[in-house]
Amino acid sequence: MSTFAVISDVHGNLEALQAVLAEIDRLKIGIVYSLGDVVGYGPDPEACVLLTESRCCLRLMGNHEHALLHPAAGLTFTAHARQAIDWTRQRILQAGLLDRLGESAPSHQNRDMLFAHGAVRNTLHEYLRESDRHGHSTFDQLVASLENDFVHFRICFVGHNHKPFLATAEGFLHPHRGMHEFHLAKEERLYVSVGSVGQPRDGDPRACFASFDGSRVSFHRVAYPHATTAGKIRARGLPEKLADRLAVGK
Ligand SMILES: [Fe+2]
Repeated sequence: MSTFAVISDVHGNLEALQAVLAEIDRLKIGIVYSLGDVVGYGPDPEACVLLTESRCCLRLMGNHEHALLHPAAGLTFTAHARQAIDWTRQRILQAGLLDRLGESAPSHQNRDMLFAHGAVRNTLHEYLRESDRHGHSTFDQLVASLENDFVHFRICFVGHNHKPFLATAEGFLHPHRGMHEFHLAKEERLYVSVGSVGQPRDGDPRACFASFDGSRVSFHRVAYPHATTAGKIRARGLPEKLADRLAVGK
């Protein structure tokens, strides 16, 4: 199997996307999959759509693309996300790119791998979490899902939660500076949550993506000029919070 890279949740952040693609080129990885949410939140949705079109052989639909196409879906967003998606819709419409976003699906299976924006049961909206909003562990549900839902595949790559980790029947594994590569057991079923290129939420502001060579998952972090992106967010009149969070990765 040729090594491939998996990116997700670019969210209109052109500086982060360019830095990640440059790192993928430096690593000589020719295949790039995008798990959706190329737009939303960030200041350069058109350029990010065009760049992912030219570089990614798989482009899934995320919930933000879905909300572009179906404005009623955006009503469930937080106020700042809704403001950003309404602004993004106008920009994408003016650029004539809306139809192209409608061609993608939220999941795709390739051999024993499923690629999804959200998670297995609801590939568009479900969040793969380590705990629910009350702090209760979802480990039991995870193990049940790995046993019951992983039927024709054994590895599921997901985005959507903006945090990089592996979710296995043994527990959750997080990459960090000293350990960012994980060798998989042959029959192991697991989720690979690839993190976010354009809006990481794990406390590390660097852009994040994953790669896989058939037996080893690697997580990568790439520094990019997030102050430039934040300046564009403010200049476009998008919510201040969307600019501030880039510096802290939250
Ligand atoms: Fe997202």
